[in-house]
Amino acid sequence: MTDKTDIVDLITGHRRMRRNRKADWTRRMVRENQLTVDDLIWPIFLVPGTNVVEPIAAMPGVMRLSVDKAVEAAREAADLGIPALATFPNVDLSLRDDTGSHSLDADNLINQATRAIKKAVPGIGVITDVALDPFTSHGHDGILRDGEIVNDETVSQIARAAIAQADAGADIIAPSDMMDGRIGVIRQALDAAGHQNVGIMAYATKFASAFYGPYREAIGTSGLLKGDKKTYYIDPANGTEALRDAALDVEEGADMMMVKPGLPYLDICWRMKDAFGLPVFAYQVSGEYSMIKAAGAQGWIDEERVMMETLLAFKRAGCDGILSYFALDVARLLARKG
Ligand code: PBG
Repeated sequence: MTDKTDIVDLITGHRRMRRNRKADWTRRMVRENQLTVDDLIWPIFLVPGTNVVEPIAAMPGVMRLSVDKAVEAAREAADLGIPALATFPNVDLSLRDDTGSHSLDADNLINQATRAIKKAVPGIGVITDVALDPFTSHGHDGILRDGEIVNDETVSQIARAAIAQADAGADIIAPSDMMDGRIGVIRQALDAAGHQNVGIMAYATKFASAFYGPYREAIGTSGLLKGDKKTYYIDPANGTEALRDAALDVEEGADMMMVKPGLPYLDICWRMKDAFGLPVFAYQVSGEYSMIKAAGAQGWIDEERVMMETLLAFKRAGCDGILSYFALDVARLLARKG
């Protein structure tokens, strides 16, 4: 064995991975995962008023929309085939208080939007986030007393807020607060109020992440938030704890689950899908979006390709869908490509 070529042949032999990669048609033939419009959930931000389309500095390309504009956005999303929207309100500061009491108002911004969207575009799913942070003067997801976010009282208020959201026509309630026991209480409350068909997408594993920064500008909590959310969100270091937390949500009646943030937590997506078999959705959060936008704007990365690659990565990690601020752009792109 003196010839170099012989040695190389012996080493690789029949194990030539590149055969399947040699042409576009072979690559398409062996492709394991596809991203389709059915995988997309579009988070949108709401503001009071009419005819308002307000840019968010930290999230280039994302707007806060008044309800009438949100209805137009819903129509466009539905026309493109996006299955569902997730709504997040930027509530007037004068309506925020210590306990987030405005969350219970049947006519608050989130409920107004649900009613208007379901009336005008009944074919699109409306997922409402239930948490107190858009409504509290301190930006926390729960009721703050003596420096502590009190769990059980928060849960009972969130359950009542969930009923108001379901009354307004929400199809799926997504509790994003990470209080203990909330899924079970919300399920019972919804059932007792006659909302057996309203689903629950548990923010099953929500991590205490720095990636939420731009979102807080979007809903106007960045200047308000005192301290951090480490006493209720999960420590980014903990995967097994996240699974235990998710197991409780499953036990308590979650119909589907979410992992948040998305890309840095693909291991959690995979483990959750594997462990429970429930539909798992990743939330590609504001910071993930803004990083791609910023690097794209600088010309450091190809924004469109990175966007598509990240979304495909969620599919590969076992996700059934992705909440993404790119949803509309992606849907348009997929429509163009046919
Ligand atoms: C809180 C909530 C957060 C997000 C949605 N709901 C996190 C937070 O402000 O702590 C973040 C979404 C994003 O970053 O895109 N209930």
